[in-house]
Amino acid sequence: MHAAVRRGCRGPLGATTWPGQAVATISRITQDGQHVVGRFVITSHRCYNARMRFDILTLFPEMFQGPFDASIIGRACEAGQATIVLHDIRDHAPGRHRVTDDTPYAGGGGMVMKPEPIWNAVESVLGFDPIGRPDAPPIVLLTPQGRLLNQSLARDLTAHPRLLLICGRYEGVDERVRRYLVTDEISIGDYVLSGGEIPAMVLVDAVVRLLPGVLGDPGATADDSHATGLLEYPHYTRPAVYRGHEVPETLLSGHHAQIERWRRQAALRRTWDRRPDLLDHASLTQADREFLAQLDARDGIETPTVPLVDDK
Ligand code: ADE
Repeated sequence: MHAAVRRGCRGPLGATTWPGQAVATISRITQDGQHVVGRFVITSHRCYNARMRFDILTLFPEMFQGPFDASIIGRACEAGQATIVLHDIRDHAPGRHRVTDDTPYAGGGGMVMKPEPIWNAVESVLGFDPIGRPDAPPIVLLTPQGRLLNQSLARDLTAHPRLLLICGRYEGVDERVRRYLVTDEISIGDYVLSGGEIPAMVLVDAVVRLLPGVLGDPGATADDSHATGLLEYPHYTRPAVYRGHEVPETLLSGHHAQIERWRRQAALRRTWDRRPDLLDHASLTQADREFLAQLDARDGIETPTVPLVDDK
């Protein structure tokens, strides 16, 4: 990870680290075998042998309940392929009022997340001060200023057994958190959401579905849009004719090589149509290039010499 180089600075709270504290927090198990973290219940009960663990630091742990309980992510947690542990940043805010934000120095609109609750939370979750510790997991801040999440970054992230995700809120987090504590900053797109929670869900989903065994078929992600550098080809299922609209004949032919060719051309055509920028970095064969040249030629009103996949 490009920003995984830790900046050599000790956190001001280094002295308050309690090794094992975070483990004590996540190990509380209810009678029905669920983990309880702060006010939040996590449905996985195989915390320590999971393929990958995500610790999510947030002011709104309850936002994650629905998306993470359902479908593929929920099943991956149940099966012990992933563990997601939510930590309420407010639990780590000092003082009776547990304040997590404050007005910016020198004025300006909005509120800024204070450094102490976040830094305390990270130390508590890890059980040590991560500064200068090469054994610490990546500490990722979700922010619109981060590098863009894409399929190749999601795949790179699967190499880490553990990730800490910090969900920012308000105008952002105190710059010292970003500069000295965080090791990577990730954005899910060039737009601003009201917090890092939904981006954290997006990131976890994109990463977990790539973990071995999470999708039943080991090749299931191979043709995904973006996995190949192209958008994926269109899919059809039964019936063969629906409201007069037919499934392309080639797909019903049972002819393997022709189906492969149809899918490749459909993927190229769709990418050419919708995301031509992707073609600059996709790995293309000579046949692909010839097909794309046909599309360009047709665009320029010339008649193609080979039949083109119709992708309306
Ligand atoms: N927080 C607010 N907007 C965001 C975005 N686009 N990506 C990541 N975190 C964010």
